[in-house]
Amino acid sequence: MPLRDIVFLPDPVLRRKAHKVTVFDAEFQQLVDDMIETMRHAPGVGLAAPQVGVSQRLIVVEYPVNDDDENSPEKLYVLANPEITHASEEAVNGVEACLSVPGMAGEVMRHTEITVRGQNRRGQTTRIKASGWLARIFQHEIDHLDGVVFVDRASRIWKPTAEEAENIKD
Ligand code: NI
Repeated sequence: MPLRDIVFLPDPVLRRKAHKVTVFDAEFQQLVDDMIETMRHAPGVGLAAPQVGVSQRLIVVEYPVNDDDENSPEKLYVLANPEITHASEEAVNGVEACLSVPGMAGEVMRHTEITVRGQNRRGQTTRIKASGWLARIFQHEIDHLDGVVFVDRASRIWKPTAEEAENIKD
């Protein structure tokens, strides 16, 4: 499984509205596998297909089941055509970074709880409820499918110190 190259701002693919996934064929499975490997290698907690130059509505996310426990197992999510079907009124500020915007951090308001509907890698409809950081990651990755990058939503943006950067989830 080859790693894919991550693209950076101002690459125009990051600003496009990505196409719906309609075919779940071998080529698509390869893209899914490559994105998982690329996310893990980066390392990052999420990756959207436009970030590897593919304008398709596909995201991968991998995050601890219990993020209070450093030994928690991680759960992998592969979601095509994700849509937020419910979002809490409650929103909270948090610090984000992005593999496509290296060396920058920003404070972004996100809903604390969301429900996301989409399709798994076989094309079956699936629904995910997420809260806290997982909800934030999904909102960040789904934004990429609409050409939105976290810096667009950030109330402030800065260059984190190396120490600070270690604690920011891309
Ligand atoms: Ni990102």
